[in-house]
Amino acid sequence: MGAEVDYAKEIQELKRSMNAVILAHYYQESEVQDLADFVGDSLALAQAAARTQADVIVFCGVHFMAETAKILNPSRQVLLPDLKAGCSLSDRCPPGAFKAFKDKHPGAFVVSYVNSSAAVKAMSDVICTSSNAVKIVNQVPKDRQILFAPDQHLGRYVMKQTGRDMVLWPGSCIVHEIFSEKKLVQLKVEHPDAEVVAHPECEQAVLRHADFIGSTKAILDYAVRSPKQRFIVVTEAGIIHQMKRAAPDKTFIPAPPDNGCACNECPYMRLNTLEKLWRCMKDRTPELTMPEDLREGARAPLQRMLDWSQ
Ligand code: 13P
Ligand code: SF4
Repeated sequence: MGAEVDYAKEIQELKRSMNAVILAHYYQESEVQDLADFVGDSLALAQAAARTQADVIVFCGVHFMAETAKILNPSRQVLLPDLKAGCSLSDRCPPGAFKAFKDKHPGAFVVSYVNSSAAVKAMSDVICTSSNAVKIVNQVPKDRQILFAPDQHLGRYVMKQTGRDMVLWPGSCIVHEIFSEKKLVQLKVEHPDAEVVAHPECEQAVLRHADFIGSTKAILDYAVRSPKQRFIVVTEAGIIHQMKRAAPDKTFIPAPPDNGCACNECPYMRLNTLEKLWRCMKDRTPELTMPEDLREGARAPLQRMLDWSQ
């Protein structure tokens, strides 16, 4: 049997020798988050990718996030530990069907959630993330009909917040759509002192029990700032790692899904492991690449998002 690899140590060494930056989403395994130079939500990760001077961006997240990094910073090599780390929202919004959806509404202004493919982004007027969706939709000219894709639950939440009517693509996140309202209510009864913090990708039946709704970063900041001591967390359980780090004296209870599991994990995000991270850095593969015309097409709506987010 060969000697065991000290992944953490080797990853740190590779990072230095490659002049790489490791970006990780909050839904990554704790050990992956701990090795990252920057952990954030989709918006913060896109902004970090756009401004990095590192030669290599190692993206510990899902495919659309690594694609966004490449679109915004094409001169860097972008590595993703597992290319199969997709996203149900992106996968269930194929470009051909999206084009047909758009063609049915000529003249409409298209706002696409960042959880979409580069091809869908390239057909959009502006991109948004969960942390800036309300701000972005508020800036769409008032006389334009809005198409919003692909997350219908985020879309409904944004409609409520902005008062804008939108035509919604019927997509959803396989993680956030399976939180159980019944189990959440039971938890609230067991912990009447707890605040419920939830991601806007959850269904409305779940969101109506939330004390605070926001992106992963917004939920984290809220829970750390709040004078309350106990929180029921209605999003992917990976975020609890940073919550515990930032507020070790507080209690964070993961809301259970409807599938019998104790907490809810994204099967795509969790494809990235420490071993795959080490291997992808050592072998410089899998690398995220895309045709230049596609990259250029998706860049303009993403850049508009960054400009409108200021
Ligand atoms: P955030 O931008 O809030 O981190 O959301 C990303 C995501 O994939 C939620 O499921
Ligand atoms: Fe996609 Fe949902 Fe996983 Fe986020 S949690 S990456 S939206 S499948």
